Amino acid sequence: MPNLAIFVSGGGSNLQTLLNSNAKDSIKIVIADRPAFGLERAEKAGIETELISRKELGKNKLSAEIDKVMAKYSIDLIILAGYLSIFTEDFSAKWRGKMINIHPSLLPKYGGMGMYGIRVHRAVLEAGDRESGCTVHYLGEGVDNGEIIMQSTVPVRENDTPESLQKRVLAEEHQLLPKAVEGLLK
Ligand code: GRF
Repeated sequence: MPNLAIFVSGGGSNLQTLLNSNAKDSIKIVIADRPAFGLERAEKAGIETELISRKELGKNKLSAEIDKVMAKYSIDLIILAGYLSIFTEDFSAKWRGKMINIHPSLLPKYGGMGMYGIRVHRAVLEAGDRESGCTVHYLGEGVDNGEIIMQSTVPVRENDTPESLQKRVLAEEHQLLPKAVEGLLK
């Protein structure tokens, strides 16, 4: 059974769906790059946590520090579940094919630098799209690119605000992420 590390920067509702899934026993460590509620969720579930601060370490040292922790827990697969820091190229190359991310849009639409959180949903509404959704994908060479593993769509409604669309997409993420991860563990 592969050993998983989950990375978070915020509330960790996607992490929670993994803690509630069959993947839970594979989760060896939860890492945050800043104080995050996700760490509390992990602790409550009896999973080890580490806060590896981007602010204190900067990009290079952050990646080096994470690398050490990955070795300590013999991690095979990294899951970025709302993680906002960017890794060094060396780190990303080393983990290519072994690091996945969830993004709140139908990639390749609305991905890349600066496309995160509410900005994604605002852009979808501004473009007048009729549907949106979420994507689980492998990390590629850039931000939010790389091979797509699974996608799921939701309708965009006429009276949607960025917030109401975000809520619908997040609920869909909670279905998609555990399904994708359980699929990879088979
Ligand atoms: C999700 O929308 C995810 O797609 C994005 O960041 C958000 C994290 O939410 N990468 P949560 O911390 O899992 O609640």
